[in-house]
Amino acid sequence: MKAIILKAFGGIDQLQPIEIPVPAIGAGEVLVKLSSISINPVDFKTREGKGIGSRIKDQLPAILGWDISGVITQVGTDVHDFKPGDEVFSMIGFPKLANAYAEYVVAQPNELAIKPANITHDEAAAATLAALTAWQALTTKGNIKKGDKVLIHAASGGVGHYAVQIAKHLGAYVIGTSSAANRDFVLGLGADEHIDYKTQQVKDVVSNVDFILDPLGGDTTTQSLHIAKKGGTVICIVHAFNDALLQKAQELGVNAHNIMVYTSGDDMKTIAGLLEKGIVRSHVSKVFPFEQMGNAHLLLETGRTVGKVVLNF
Ligand SMILES: NC(=O)c1ccc[n+]([C@@H]2O[C@H](COP(=O)([O-])OP(=O)(O)OC[C@H]3O[C@@H](n4cnc5c(N)ncnc54)[C@H](OP(=O)(O)O)[C@@H]3O)[C@@H](O)[C@H]2O)c1
Repeated sequence: MKAIILKAFGGIDQLQPIEIPVPAIGAGEVLVKLSSISINPVDFKTREGKGIGSRIKDQLPAILGWDISGVITQVGTDVHDFKPGDEVFSMIGFPKLANAYAEYVVAQPNELAIKPANITHDEAAAATLAALTAWQALTTKGNIKKGDKVLIHAASGGVGHYAVQIAKHLGAYVIGTSSAANRDFVLGLGADEHIDYKTQQVKDVVSNVDFILDPLGGDTTTQSLHIAKKGGTVICIVHAFNDALLQKAQELGVNAHNIMVYTSGDDMKTIAGLLEKGIVRSHVSKVFPFEQMGNAHLLLETGRTVGKVVLNF
């Protein structure tokens, strides 16, 4: 089968096509023939040795990739909840290596959800790591209630565009930030207000916020502590909360957390339900052929993409 291997940490020249045998499954596993995979900033960060690079540095050369959608072709003897022919999607194995830059992957049944019939494999592969991050950020630490004021930074990005839709579904009043170029996109997701971070300081126009999603770090994280209301929550997904900022959060009475997305079949099933009902939609702005993985990395690295970048076979 076709796969793409990361030979060593570095540029896209380190991503190389290879032919390897289709992997064998164990008794409790399934084999999935992939139709689409999506990529996230953690893919190019890890390629460069950042991201989860420190966790996998002794396993190079390695096959990256976590976000999948495809069809089950084989199930182990102990697997009873899936069968060959089932169309499934998920973020598998993260933050370990899951080998998803390949035509076939081995997956654990408890990581998977059935792909809703009303969405494409590209849309399903998109709604995995980024959608899980948004869901877990908003629901595990967020406890968002109807009418809460929610601020989603980078609302036009992979995580942000799901977060806006999920926050609206939870009944929040949603403010999204992006540049002016993506204003209509963010409002089209259902956001009640848009802030162009290039012409306005968020702290000058927003205050007393119940929940803030911070995918940016730096000044955004510091400012968020002052924009959140007492008893409010700031979730940072780029690990910008250090001891000093956590201390500051405590003084201000703000709940501050760094979080990292985790694989969860249960959360994937919830997301599948939202996709099936059309409550959440994937915006796939660019689809590359699998062979153009390097170009897909370069596009995502610009930090300017809208919604998700997907590759398919
Ligand atoms: N902790 C975790 O588990 C976890 C999970 C997922 C992602 N992450 C991290 O979260 C970050 C975001 O991921 P992503 O997939 O959403 O990235 P992404 O899709 O690459 O985000 C791109 C979007 O960010 C917007 N943007 C860039 N700078 C901005 C700013 N200063 N203010 C507002 N919007 C801005 C851009 O809009 P404009 O072009 O309009 O500026 C663009 O649409 C990455 O660093 C990623 O590694 C962490």
